[in-house]
Amino acid sequence: MRILSGIQPSGKLHLGNYFGMMRPALELQKKGETYLFIANYHALTTVQDAPRMRQDTWDVALDFLACGLDTEKTIFFRQSDVPEVHELAWLLSIVTPMGLLERCHSYKDKLGKGFAPSHGLFAYPVLMASDILIYQSNIVPVGRDQKQHVEVTRDIAIKFNNQFGEVFTIPEPFIQEEVAVVPGLDGMKMSKSYGNTIELFGDAKETKARIMKIVTDSKGLEDPKDPATCNIYALYKLFATPEQRAEMEANYRAGNYGYGHAKKALLAIFEEQFAPFRAKREELKANPDYVESILREGAERARVAARVTLDKARKAVGIV
Ligand code: TRP
Repeated sequence: MRILSGIQPSGKLHLGNYFGMMRPALELQKKGETYLFIANYHALTTVQDAPRMRQDTWDVALDFLACGLDTEKTIFFRQSDVPEVHELAWLLSIVTPMGLLERCHSYKDKLGKGFAPSHGLFAYPVLMASDILIYQSNIVPVGRDQKQHVEVTRDIAIKFNNQFGEVFTIPEPFIQEEVAVVPGLDGMKMSKSYGNTIELFGDAKETKARIMKIVTDSKGLEDPKDPATCNIYALYKLFATPEQRAEMEANYRAGNYGYGHAKKALLAIFEEQFAPFRAKREELKANPDYVESILREGAERARVAARVTLDKARKAVGIV
């Protein structure tokens, strides 16, 4: 089974990225051959600032390696180090109906946010289809917002296979229902654009201040509380073991357990789980050559697989 996912290097990663995408991807690496890449070509559709692009790409590499990416099991690389995806993207474009792309929510959302309707933004799902199909991926772990793009990929692959013969594996999206939506400080989906995030490797003081700002109802210390409607608990349970969850739920229901207590418990469990990642990140940051060698080696391995699929697709359409 081949698992593939990509992440855009779009600034500091937060808990929404971690639980929605990183942790599921890191867990899946135990189950099969995993490809994970930094989608810098996709990020270019929205970030057009070269120093920032370089920095964000590097940061996301450090973040993943720090959070437990196993480079023995996972092929980790930069999208731009495998230029074959662009050639395949063109072959896929040939069979991609305009209407399929016009229906994409993500495209419409971006226009709604004020991005100019460029061809890159419009063709974004075709490049994503190429990323997925070029490695003959079976499983694609993504956040809920990317599910439609995986469905578009399936449609494109089926159409290509019908028209030119069996070239591509049809992939399945993988969304961990329970953790796919991570609430932010205000209870809305955690997202950089809402300014409601908790960064993975933020400054300790800032992290604490942000956790203390999580919005709750106005129940007093002694009142029993409902964990099911509380943003603090919703975040805590993502980190917690079943026993830790049960304990906090009991505390909520019993009363005399304030939201301040719950915030402290959330901060403690976050720090406990991230302390080793933080240390690892510092170590990697001090060894850029090592990090670069991992990315290069990943790209070399990825290109071998990409080349096989591209050659098949070229042959199928009559280019070779
Ligand atoms: N579009 C994805 C996102 O914004 C990133 C991405 C690009 C991706 N190519 C991919 C994810 C291929 C999974 C598979 O999150």
